[in-house]
Amino acid sequence: MNSRLLLSAAAIALSATAAQAQDCTFEADIADFTQEQIDALYDCVRDELPAAYGAGDDAVAAVYREWQAAATGPAAPGFHGGRFLNTFVNEVGHAEYIRYEGDDEAFEMPVGTVIAKESYTLRDGAPRIGPLFIMTRVATDQSPETDGWVYSAVQPNGNPMGIQQSFCHDCHGGFSFSDSLGYPAFDVRLGQ
Ligand code: HEC
Repeated sequence: MNSRLLLSAAAIALSATAAQAQDCTFEADIADFTQEQIDALYDCVRDELPAAYGAGDDAVAAVYREWQAAATGPAAPGFHGGRFLNTFVNEVGHAEYIRYEGDDEAFEMPVGTVIAKESYTLRDGAPRIGPLFIMTRVATDQSPETDGWVYSAVQPNGNPMGIQQSFCHDCHGGFSFSDSLGYPAFDVRLGQ
């Protein structure tokens, strides 16, 4: 290959990358998204999410991306306001979390477990970041009304989001065979 050909090959490769980086508009309805579209959308927001949540001084927002993921990646939206979700669990609880225990009334996550769930959706075809949802496991008798979980959330501008413990737990408490955990969709669980 002569040097001119090499140069134009490089130019084509470069413009392909640029086009990909910019291509963050999506025509399809999110309910019809293929896994490929789900992954492409996540690529668009992958770096923006921790930057957005980390803009304030929330301690979890600052570190959750150093934790291990709780799934292979986001799944098609379901609960949590039709948003795409991607969850990370700290070292204390990750191994227990990814057992995805769903059939044991006595199952308890280790005290000190912190779980952070990113959320985002599409608005007018473009990605739109939603809150970071957080659950922290304390001793059950420290927070008996929510079975030992403390709920919090961070807005996409990094500020804390005002939430009611009962709002979150009215739903999560229903998952009584998994210590109040809802778990990601089956098709994105690790090791499935
Ligand atoms: C209507 C039911 C419902 C409500 C209300 C709700 N959640 Fe969830 N939540 C779920 C479900 C279902 C999942 C699992 C979905 C997934 O990960 O794909 C989940 C997952 C989570 C997770 C990941 C851990 C897990 O359960 O696997 C966190 C963290 C979380 N929610 C935080 C919150 C917070 C904070 C609130 C209140 C602001 C809240 N949730 C309100 C249903 C709910």
